[in-house]
Order: sequence, then C-alpha cells, then structure tokens
Amino acid sequence: MKTIQIINGPNLNLLGIREPEIYGRQSFEYFFDTLKHQFPNISLQYYQSNHEGDVIDKLHEVGFLYDGIVLNAAAYTHYSYAIADAIKAIRTPVIEVHISDIYAREDFRKISVTGENCVDIISGKGLDGYRLAIEKFLID
Ligand code: DQA
Repeated sequence: MKTIQIINGPNLNLLGIREPEIYGRQSFEYFFDTLKHQFPNISLQYYQSNHEGDVIDKLHEVGFLYDGIVLNAAAYTHYSYAIADAIKAIRTPVIEVHISDIYAREDFRKISVTGENCVDIISGKGLDGYRLAIEKFLID
C-alpha cells in the first residue's frame, strides 16, 4: 500500500472562506474526506501549517519514508528557498499543486522557487489538482 502525504501551507486552513471566487467554497477537511474515499487502497495523510519551519519539518519527517508528497506551499511557493532546499534534500518525490492558475495571476505568483525541485507542477485545476497529483504517483 502506497503512503502519500498532502502538505498545505499558509492560509489554506481557510479554504471555503478565503476568497471563494478564487479558491472555491469547500473546506479542505471536507474535500479530504471525499479524496480518501476515492483512493481506498492508499494511505493518505493530510497536514497543514501556517509556518515555514513546520512545513520543512514535515517534509523531513515523511521525505525518507513515504511514496509521494503533494505540496501546496501557498505563498511560500514564490520565495521560500528554505522549502525549495528541503524538497531537494529529501528522497520522496514531491508534486506541487496550486488550486488557482498561478501563471494567470499577479506577476509575483508566476514564479515558483519550490516547483524547481518538484517532479511536476499542477496549477489551476481547482481542488481536483490534488486528485490528479495522487493519480500521477499511482502511475509511477
Ligand atoms: C495558491 C496560490 C498562491 O499564490 C497563494 O499564495 C495561495 C494559494 C493556490 O493554491 O492557488 O495561498 O498556492
């Protein structure tokens, strides 16, 4: 059985409430429940933090054990060289997910420093991007 970790960064705890016209009206907890039902044959874990160091600690914790990491580092995506380095330091492949299309928004969002060290970036598919990322890990 494959084990996959989802890590969500800052402000994603407010999904469903935060800018719903961009991020939708569903909480991640609710969505995560449906996701688990879609993948009954994998062990799916979810972690969210608003703190850069916590995201790094979680990457270190699971990054030598799990089969895949789905990371939405949120705003850290655009400037956290520390998270980018952590992704490079671990062995587990990381797929980066963005709910919105970061390439179609403000200029600062078009740059992903963390994505440089990820095996793939899925952007602009809404919450379905998480499912697509998991599917990719199951193909490999
Ligand atoms: C986001 C895009 C980021 O630019 C933003 O800071 C977020 C969410 C997304 O999922 O679309 O917090 O990562």
